[in-house]
Amino acid sequence: MSAKIFVPFFLALCLTAGARDLQQAQAPASGASKPVADLLFVLSAQKATFTDANTLTLTGVTSTAQFYGSGARAGIIPTTVFVNGTAGGSYVSSNGEWLNNPTATLFGFGDNNAQTSLIMTLASPQVSSDGETVTFDVSVVSNGDASIKTIKGVANEVVEESATQANYLQTAVQPGATLSNIALFVDSNREAIKPIAQTKTFWWWGPHWGWGGGWGCGWGCGGGYGWGK
Ligand SMILES: *[C@@H]1O[C@H](CO)[C@@H](O)[C@H](O)[C@H]1NC(C)=O
Repeated sequence: MSAKIFVPFFLALCLTAGARDLQQAQAPASGASKPVADLLFVLSAQKATFTDANTLTLTGVTSTAQFYGSGARAGIIPTTVFVNGTAGGSYVSSNGEWLNNPTATLFGFGDNNAQTSLIMTLASPQVSSDGETVTFDVSVVSNGDASIKTIKGVANEVVEESATQANYLQTAVQPGATLSNIALFVDSNREAIKPIAQTKTFWWWGPHWGWGGGWGCGWGCGGGYGWGK
């Protein structure tokens, strides 16, 4: 195979991908159907405390959050970067919402070491300077899929499982309740958070997802984390 044939073919692919991204970026934000959860973030912690019904405090948080895209696209993000909810934070949109106030599923162990889970909307994260304590405003989901912002995500699966497993999912929270050995799974969608990414020049989804601005920076140019080529 000669380079003469290969090079134009590669360019054509890039142009096609660019045009498709442009169309998607201009599509109306509110569609009739919910987006597929094609991006997952995971934050781990030693303990979760509901200081009141709408405030979740995680303590002993790991120093990095993990993300998983389609296939084997995965990586880590420093916790202080991921849950920086202040204006200008890497995952905060121009209207001030962190990750579009996503739906997340909290797994942990409660009384008698019984595993349980709660589904909730997360908003306004606050992180301590050492990254070990993270607080969210939360709204616990009690009506199953109706309040979940994505389809085919962790939260949707947990709702399905809960239909046949007693106590697998809690739909109300007692103020003061604590859980241990926490994993918080945040369902997200790449297209839905693209407007956030467009305001941060260092965000990059890698060659086949990008919308321009320089191939191959990965998540956090210069930071050395995230994917990309
Ligand atoms: C959060 O992001 C803002 C805006 O970029 C920045 O000024 C601040 O230092 C960040 N906070 C942390 C804890 O990294």
